[in-house]
Amino acid sequence: MLMQTYKEDDGKNFGKWTDDVSRFMYFESTGKILDLIQVPETVADYGGANGNLKHFIPHAISIDIDASKKPDINENILTHDGIYELVVIRYVLHYLNDYEVLKLFENIKAKNILVIQFENNNLKDKYFNSQNEFKYFRTSAQTRELLPTRFEEIYSKDYELGPDFYKNRLGEGKYKTHNETLKGYYI
Ligand SMILES: C[S@@+](CC[C@H](N)C(=O)[O-])C[C@H]1O[C@@H](n2cnc3c(N)ncnc32)[C@H](O)[C@@H]1O
Repeated sequence: MLMQTYKEDDGKNFGKWTDDVSRFMYFESTGKILDLIQVPETVADYGGANGNLKHFIPHAISIDIDASKKPDINENILTHDGIYELVVIRYVLHYLNDYEVLKLFENIKAKNILVIQFENNNLKDKYFNSQNEFKYFRTSAQTRELLPTRFEEIYSKDYELGPDFYKNRLGEGKYKTHNETLKGYYI
């Protein structure tokens, strides 16, 4: 069993927060993005945590390094060996440094990859709000530099995050309201 645990993710409760931004990020936007592509029979959800994606793709196999979220497969996605028609990577890139993101894409054996990722063109406010966690937030340009060259941007939506979102995610604290952009990239 892999012992990397992200305490701030709250194990099996991950993504179930009821504030408007969480609802948009974990449910509404994903439904819209998946309507834009063909969902095949073999789907892997890399960094799939507690399997929230199964709400939309019941047959998706979640692969995650954090055993506390009870993924279908408890493995590191940088070394996981599997062949799938579609690999979904939703809100995972910011857990990985740049070298790891490049390694991740090199390791994937799939016909298609769907990346769903938020981007922060205001990095100062994002890092200010994330004092209780360690992550690698990126601008749109930084994210795109790390994707395989043949990506297509299929979804883009700006939204505003405030204290409600951060309190649910990271606990009580002082938080700034800022903008963020949600992207869907199909590779
Ligand atoms: C923000 S969560 C997103 C979960 C899920 N994809 C979703 O959208 O509901 C990111 C997940 O990536 C997992 N993760 C980070 N690095 C990983 C790695 N190297 N191998 C497998 N999982 C990893 C974390 O444990 C966490 O569950």
